[in-house]
Amino acid sequence: MADLEKSLDDAGLTNSSVREYVAHWAEYLGADRIEVVSASDDARLVQEALEAGEIEPAGEGLYYSRSYSKDTARSEERTIVATSRPEDEGVYNNWRHTDEIRPVVEGHMKGAMAGKTMYVIPYLMAPPGSPLERFAAGVEITDNRTVCLHMIRMARVGVNHINQLADQDMFVRAVHVTGDLPNLGQGTPDDKRYFVTVADERTILHFGSSYGGNALLGKIAHGLRQAAYDGYASGEFLGEQFMLLGITDKETGETHHVCGGFPSASGKTNLAMTLAPDALGDRYHVSFYGDDIAWLWVGEDGNLYGLNPENGVFGVAKDTNERTNPTALDSIEPGTQALFTNVAYNEQTHEVWWEGKTPHHPQDATGWRDWKGELIADRNPDEAGDPWAHPNSRFTTTLANVPNVAPDFEDPKGVKIDAIIFGGRTRDREPLVRAIDDLAEGVYDGLTLGAEATAAAEGVEGKLRYDPMSMRPFMSYPEGPYAAQWLKIVGAAKDQPVFAHVNWFQRDPEDGHFLWPGYRENLRALLWLVQYKKGQVTGRKTAVGTIPLKEELNLDGLDIDAGDLDTILDIDVERWRQEMGFREEHLKQFANLPEEIWEAHRRVAAALDQE
Ligand code: GDP
Ligand code: PGA
Ligand code: MN
Repeated sequence: MADLEKSLDDAGLTNSSVREYVAHWAEYLGADRIEVVSASDDARLVQEALEAGEIEPAGEGLYYSRSYSKDTARSEERTIVATSRPEDEGVYNNWRHTDEIRPVVEGHMKGAMAGKTMYVIPYLMAPPGSPLERFAAGVEITDNRTVCLHMIRMARVGVNHINQLADQDMFVRAVHVTGDLPNLGQGTPDDKRYFVTVADERTILHFGSSYGGNALLGKIAHGLRQAAYDGYASGEFLGEQFMLLGITDKETGETHHVCGGFPSASGKTNLAMTLAPDALGDRYHVSFYGDDIAWLWVGEDGNLYGLNPENGVFGVAKDTNERTNPTALDSIEPGTQALFTNVAYNEQTHEVWWEGKTPHHPQDATGWRDWKGELIADRNPDEAGDPWAHPNSRFTTTLANVPNVAPDFEDPKGVKIDAIIFGGRTRDREPLVRAIDDLAEGVYDGLTLGAEATAAAEGVEGKLRYDPMSMRPFMSYPEGPYAAQWLKIVGAAKDQPVFAHVNWFQRDPEDGHFLWPGYRENLRALLWLVQYKKGQVTGRKTAVGTIPLKEELNLDGLDIDAGDLDTILDIDVERWRQEMGFREEHLKQFANLPEEIWEAHRRVAAALDQE
């Protein structure tokens, strides 16, 4: 490419390491043109994408895109963590030696951008100036303009930061090639997709998808897998699939920060965005920091800090409505430049719709196409009951569009963490909330998080599986050292956070209804937890943690059946004893699990025997 140097000069990209990296890949991928992307290019890129038919208008300043029908979720099976250190092999990280896998994925990429534009996206995860800044920079190379639009919303995109790196070489090299989607054999023995993080080389090589979780490399591949590995290798921090929020008591002026992990599509975005302080009078304000990733470290003052490295929200559309999540709807209003992916789309009126947006789908099917692009009116009668939107359809919007975004959401110093919660979809056993004071028991609880699988990943929805700290798909190093890293980082904090396990998804065994109204009402459980941490409530001690007494929980104006409430504020001891056996099997898989974790397991098991 003759004008490569000129393109980089014109874009003001001066970092010589980045220039070398870009030149190498431009040559290897055989790209025709190169374009360096910054956030200020958004309007032009949107226009070009509209003209090319890659996105469609969905109202004023809103856009719609559909991904290939076999490319609508992260593929966990095809996701690999590679290093040159065999000791990095864990149970869940799908480890391969770099020498084995790198040639395979690079082989698929060779020449793959012939005739195409190669977009270069310099980005920063985490606000500039944070103590973890040196782990935050990356440069994504992609052949996909829609990926650029998403990255501009989800990360801080532009050349300035990358030019000014203290160590010019300290950036994540993130290469994304979409591939010929209809011919990649998705889900067959001849699957050609590879989503590889070469963690000890800080290099990400993703081939064969344009879906967000596989293609926006700043987010999950860098923000989670690479960051977790960096945190481990440096010994400095944890990179977790966590939401992060603040609860301010206006009467006392105090703010408490809660972060926590639920598996993908299990309620992080909803919890962080939409708690309903108004339902409890005017006393509380809940502010949003992040909905999917938190980096945690101990600051100079000895406190545990957290920050959200992202700049946007990639939320599940299904069931987002005025009742469940009005804040999300505000953040995707006309003019917000939000993007919708794989929802249903009306090509005449440019409206979008997803299951649960309104109680019924639009009466008049004229102009409506489902997530696969089929006209609803033409669908064969066997498909009449099929969803219009994909269950993992998404909206993408920047943090600044979220009405309750915290005023200090970009403060590089982060916020002090007071509570760490784990949860997931569990239809029985798990009460509404159980608080855990002990660090090892808290980490043990995270490691034994068991929840139902969701549509955010390919595979069986609803099947119960263990998902340590909700990191199973993002684990980049072995589980034993991971547990040790948790004990080390959190253990170093002078004011220990309280841990808790929450569950909004317990169901009636007969008719399947959710026992707890969930969504905005979840604030009630968190308020109890904050009060518990402060010693204002005592709860009832059980073998698996402390559960609120009914009278300690704020139930003002809450519509809940008395029997249902009793069920979610109790534990099923028999079920829990059985669970302990499953947990033991689960934990036994992990080599070098710290003895503190086994001790915690035995303490809980012994306490259950006493119940
Ligand atoms: P995330 O992927 O973990 O951020 O999960 P989301 O917050 O996007 O939610 C995933 C799905 O779970 C959406 O369809 C939500 O409507 C649903 N959901 C979220 N919170 C609750 C809740 O408290 N109760 C119930 N029943 N569903 C919820
Ligand atoms: P989620 O984020 O947790 O909101 O689903 C995307 C993902 O994890 O794939
Ligand atoms: Mn996630």
